[in-house]
Amino acid sequence: MPTHESGVIVFDHPLIAHKLATIRDKHSGHRTFRAALDQIAGLMVYEVTRELPMREIEIETPMTTTRCRVLAGAITIVPVLRAGLGMIDGILDVMPEARVGHLGLARDEQTLEPHAYLNKLPRDLDDGPVILVDPMLATGGSASAALTMLRQAGASDVRMICLVAAPEGIDRLRREHPDVKIYAAALDDCIDEHGYIIPGLGDAGDRMYGTVE
Ligand code: PRP
Ligand code: URA
Repeated sequence: MPTHESGVIVFDHPLIAHKLATIRDKHSGHRTFRAALDQIAGLMVYEVTRELPMREIEIETPMTTTRCRVLAGAITIVPVLRAGLGMIDGILDVMPEARVGHLGLARDEQTLEPHAYLNKLPRDLDDGPVILVDPMLATGGSASAALTMLRQAGASDVRMICLVAAPEGIDRLRREHPDVKIYAAALDDCIDEHGYIIPGLGDAGDRMYGTVE
């Protein structure tokens, strides 16, 4: 997958581009939006997990014994509520053994500062890789706060999957969490004066759950 000069790994795949067009389209209702988001997450997870640590074990086949490679350590997926929840089922379809931690963060609409309202993470987060999931990386405030919460909970090997990333958010994560690899389906142009990504897709949580006023 191409790595952008910002260090973000950007998905260059016809299926992902096609589904992203559906998600961006303001005429797509919440059912269509949710289905496409879930499908993109499932497609992205193959690449995101490409470098996960492996270990060798011995297996008995019906014929003989042989050595096989399996994933080392527990994988933890952490969606940022609400919108991150929309990517979880697609990921769990591919990795049903993964654990799921939850972080609840809501942006204050005036200050754009994230407010944390939920932190439910496994105790032994350092037992394996952690994948933070949030479709939108705008100012980067929510993702940066979520990554700090993961660090405080003990996570050491952390990656982030988002759908659409703005340069402002990428710059912030590069400064505040330089060791975290970011994967995105698209790099957008900028954020507007209200903190929305342009061209973006609007408010991801509202579009996903049909709560647009
Ligand atoms: C959205 C999105 C991110 C955040 C990104 O959540 O899911 O968490 O905004 O913006 P930032 O990069 O500027 O912090 P929101 O706060 O709207 O909450 P919601 O998903 O519950 O609607
Ligand atoms: N959060 C969203 O849901 N959409 C944006 O464009 C920016 C932040």
